[in-house]
Amino acid sequence: MKIAILPGDGIGPEIVAEAVKVLNVLDLPFETETALVGGCAYDAYGHPLPDATLKLAQDADATLFGAVGDWKYDTLDRPLRPEQAILGLRKNLGLFANFRPAICYPQLVDASSLKRELVAGLDILIIRELTGDIYFGQPRGRRIATDGHFPGAEEAFDTMRYSRPEIERIAHVAFQAARKRKAAGGEGRVTSVDKANVLETFQLWKDVVTEIGQQYPDIALDHMYVDNAAMQLVKAPKKFDVVVTGNMFGDILSDAAAMLTGSIGMLPSASLNSKGQGLYEPSHGSAPDIAGKGVANPLATILSAAMMLRFSLNQPEAAARIEKAVDQVLTLGLRTPDIYSEGTKRVGTVEMGDAVVKALVG
Ligand code: NAD
Ligand code: IPM
Ligand code: MN
Repeated sequence: MKIAILPGDGIGPEIVAEAVKVLNVLDLPFETETALVGGCAYDAYGHPLPDATLKLAQDADATLFGAVGDWKYDTLDRPLRPEQAILGLRKNLGLFANFRPAICYPQLVDASSLKRELVAGLDILIIRELTGDIYFGQPRGRRIATDGHFPGAEEAFDTMRYSRPEIERIAHVAFQAARKRKAAGGEGRVTSVDKANVLETFQLWKDVVTEIGQQYPDIALDHMYVDNAAMQLVKAPKKFDVVVTGNMFGDILSDAAAMLTGSIGMLPSASLNSKGQGLYEPSHGSAPDIAGKGVANPLATILSAAMMLRFSLNQPEAAARIEKAVDQVLTLGLRTPDIYSEGTKRVGTVEMGDAVVKALVG
């Protein structure tokens, strides 16, 4: 088994180092190879996703990714910006299915900005389509308007689009995930989030998800407009089981869901293609505001490594061991600043990683 390690920018290298430390004590038969990606790759090679980095990820069984981006690259031409690296990896590897599980550990109910009764016991799964939608639709660009409210003015435009097969395959992923969760005691329900009341793209989305749903009579399906979904996520998050939605809505809703778990530093993710190859990364970004300070929460990345062992490397026991170790360090009361609450012990990134290692080997 081969794992590509792409730490990236900002807190990326700090949190990935902790996840690699955790993987290394498991004594599993895998090799790793590390490469630059994002802003640091641009600095070194003039491109955020160098060919060698892309090839490494393509040839690996799985990729562990940190985060990319920094404000200092925001004025570069778009194809050279760090964010294009993660978008390029998703597109080139065909990583269309993004799993973002939002689980509120009982130990963290007081770290959430919501009342404890709203989040205690929360366990929802957001499935975000990751290679379509307005993120990748063509045409896009800037031009001089020839119509609209201000003909002759500079304008910019993007294209929101989904094809039937793209919706079908992500719908199948969602229904199958709900089925798996149901077998493990889950509710067996998919909520498809759309904006069919306004957008053609999401009318097709809703129609196709409804059709596919008929193949899963054991799974309940409901539909919700995205604005209401944003509201319900903070009003009564536990009413959701599996949420399936498009690329942009999923981006936004998953950051909101992150706060239900206590911090975005707790939300892992898996991005899978149809061959079972995956890229695993925390749902958060490079957090330039805290980079280099040794305070970033590495748990989302460590939990992403656990997802990698389960989904791409066929090591479910090792994955469960990591998850149990994370649970243990939280029970011990260790907290990075983002999940700190009164009566717990504030620790840094490295100390948190060391504690997970200790829980694994001790
Ligand atoms: P962000 O997720 O990096 O940070 C948002 C806030 O959350 C910040 O206050 C940050 O300090 C905090 N935070 C994030 N991760 C944390 C962690 N592990 N522990 C503690 N606190 C944490 O989002 P942003 O500030 O909007 O974006 C920063 C940069 O990251 C941008 O360049 C953006 O494009 C990029 N980004 C990259 C990815 C990715 O690589 N997949 C994802 C999101 C954003
Ligand atoms: C995420 C990030 C990315 C996205 C950016 C960095 C391209 O926000 O993974 O959620 O929008 O998908
Ligand atoms: Mn995002």
